[in-house]
Amino acid sequence: MAQTRTLHLTASAPDLERAARLLADGRLVAFPTETVYGLGADARNGRAVAAIYAAKGRPSFNPLIVHLADAAAAQRYVTWSDTAQKLADAFWPGPLTLVLPLKPGHGISGLVTAGLDTLAVRVPAHPAARALLRAFGGPVAAPSANPSGRISPTTAAHVLAGLSGRIAAVVDDGPCPVGLESTIVGLAGEPVLLRPGGVAAERIEAVLGQALARPQDGAAISAPGQLLSHYAPTERVRLDAEAPHPDELFLGFGAMACDLNLSPGGDLAEAAANLFGHLHALDAQGKPIAVAPIPNHGLGAAINDRLRRAAAPRE
Ligand code: TXA
Ligand code: MG
Repeated sequence: MAQTRTLHLTASAPDLERAARLLADGRLVAFPTETVYGLGADARNGRAVAAIYAAKGRPSFNPLIVHLADAAAAQRYVTWSDTAQKLADAFWPGPLTLVLPLKPGHGISGLVTAGLDTLAVRVPAHPAARALLRAFGGPVAAPSANPSGRISPTTAAHVLAGLSGRIAAVVDDGPCPVGLESTIVGLAGEPVLLRPGGVAAERIEAVLGQALARPQDGAAISAPGQLLSHYAPTERVRLDAEAPHPDELFLGFGAMACDLNLSPGGDLAEAAANLFGHLHALDAQGKPIAVAPIPNHGLGAAINDRLRRAAAPRE
């Protein structure tokens, strides 16, 4: 694809105005959210959305999340429900994505939904993301800003390492505080957990007063993006390791000797925030990675989901 010079913008008001104008011109802009950096395009502009798929090298059957400034904006595109309202009240703005039926006349490019009759919507909490969405004033389709299948970016440097020369700009506002992608809940039928993420499933279940359904692993569910191999470092990843082999780097959790520690104090939120950055840093050393066991409750479920994909056999 054609090379372009990627602008390195700040989160200042004039820079965000410039980023919003680039989006309006159908260009690609990477921006920080509280979860990971997103690669944004105007969701109504099919050519702009096609450019996301091209820049990432992403399989075109994988639908995108639409980012909006507030819940009222989301309701222009999807059929709202009481359950959606409850979850939006509890967790928006924040790291939760809701999948709802598309409204007639929605105007969203078919490339965003990959032909589904539902749309994933999210209202991010990051101040720079919110300011950009307000300045742009429309729906922004944004997958994580990394080449398809690779580790998600939690800094602007990660974005540039993977996509420099392929996108118009990156808005740099430092590291992402949550560090894991949003939790995705399907609300087209009974509430279903389509992807564990930055809001622990237990918290969502507490608000709903019911358990979330869990799609069968590997079943042809309505979350087509859940490819098994994903978040892949260049080298092999081995999970639940009590100790590293001699050739391996060791990614630790809790008090232990290791090359990098997700959280020496055993805090899962801290581990989530460090996960992708530590994987990027170890991967840059060009050796296989062993990972210590991580508890599977709360944010640990999403951390283990990402680690399983990082360790999965590659296609
Ligand atoms: O935190 C996040 O969600 C980040 C930031 C940038 O907002 N975005 C992100 O997007 O993780 P992406 O494209 O890497 O992951 C989107 C996921 C995919 O697994 C996709 O299949 C699923 O959302 N998805 C999108 N639309 C869907 C739909 N209509 N039904 C079911 N799953 C959907
Ligand atoms: Mg992604």
